[in-house]
Amino acid sequence: MEPEWDAERHVAHPPSAASFTARLDEHPDARGALVTSPTPYGTCADLAGIAAECHRRGRPLIVDEAWGAHLPFHPDLPSWAMDAGADVCVTSVHKMGAGLEQGSVFHQQGTLVDPAVLKSREDLLGTTSPSVLIYAGLDGWRRQMVEHGRALLQDALDLAASVRTEIADIPGFDVQGPAEFTGPGRAHDLDPLPVVIDIAGLGTTGYRAADWLRRHHRVNLHLADHRRISAQLTFADDKETAARLLAALSDLRDHIDDLRDAPEVSVPDPEDIRLELAVLPRDAFFGPAEQVPADWAVGRVCAEMLTPYPPGIPTVLPGERITAPVLEYLRSGVTAGMVIPDAVDAKVDSVRVLIENNGT
Ligand SMILES: Cc1ncc(COP(=O)(O)O)c(C=O)c1O
Repeated sequence: MEPEWDAERHVAHPPSAASFTARLDEHPDARGALVTSPTPYGTCADLAGIAAECHRRGRPLIVDEAWGAHLPFHPDLPSWAMDAGADVCVTSVHKMGAGLEQGSVFHQQGTLVDPAVLKSREDLLGTTSPSVLIYAGLDGWRRQMVEHGRALLQDALDLAASVRTEIADIPGFDVQGPAEFTGPGRAHDLDPLPVVIDIAGLGTTGYRAADWLRRHHRVNLHLADHRRISAQLTFADDKETAARLLAALSDLRDHIDDLRDAPEVSVPDPEDIRLELAVLPRDAFFGPAEQVPADWAVGRVCAEMLTPYPPGIPTVLPGERITAPVLEYLRSGVTAGMVIPDAVDAKVDSVRVLIENNGT
């Protein structure tokens, strides 16, 4: 699937329902579909439209709703996967809910995914020693949402609206709302709680700004990329935490001159970021591999995932043929402060590549 790529802002949103239609038509043997929504930037897919396309063909839709634990509990938030008709969704309650870390759950409905099969797959991957604390945290969150969810999320939405307005008043801080992130060629819907701020006009990177905020104000941002920072509000925020965030951001603005001359990240054009899948991912991942200097990796098949965090979306998957623009993106990104934790060599001075049959 191709995401909706905003070439002006250099950001990707979930694929449209129309691109699911096209791909499912092209591949009638597809067993199902998977989509991530919301993205870590808060942008959401047309899940109802995608589910309808899948179901017309008797195929299930699975949604990675890691960032959407709060969505079911307020009507003004984007629809959550189960209401939109998805068959399975996976949600990290420790992200936008109040679960302890590792408190991820899946929901299932309908008949396209057999609950017994799903259970057996979960059993294969899950621990045999589940934590009672995690279960208790999940149950506590469930109860809190049933009893107070709507009111708590109303407060969060009101707070997000006022925080967005105040940040937008800081010169050069371009708060990204529905006008920037939704509409044709962009996302279907937007969760307003992640407050994404584009600082491209200020001559620094999101990486530098996020490091500065952590060092000087002990404020940890949810996301930083080459041109944006994002403050993730939740139902647990209040006027006090918002005031601290706003004071930190305004101090950041006052010190922005100290952060200029940031190393530039060489972001590829959309057509350059899509790599050729030369070998099936599992064959590349489990096949014979070697670690080669980055310059030698161009043209080779990658045998690892190369994923900038955040947001944690892989740039290169095992099986994809590495190109110079993508490698340059990752290497210039690392110089600028991007973190690539899943690479064998996190600095990407070298890359793990597949040894292909012909010895290259
Ligand atoms: C879109 C998305 N899916 C899944 C995950 C992983 O979720 P978990 O923390 O439940 O393993 C993340 C983590 O950030 C994510 O951003």
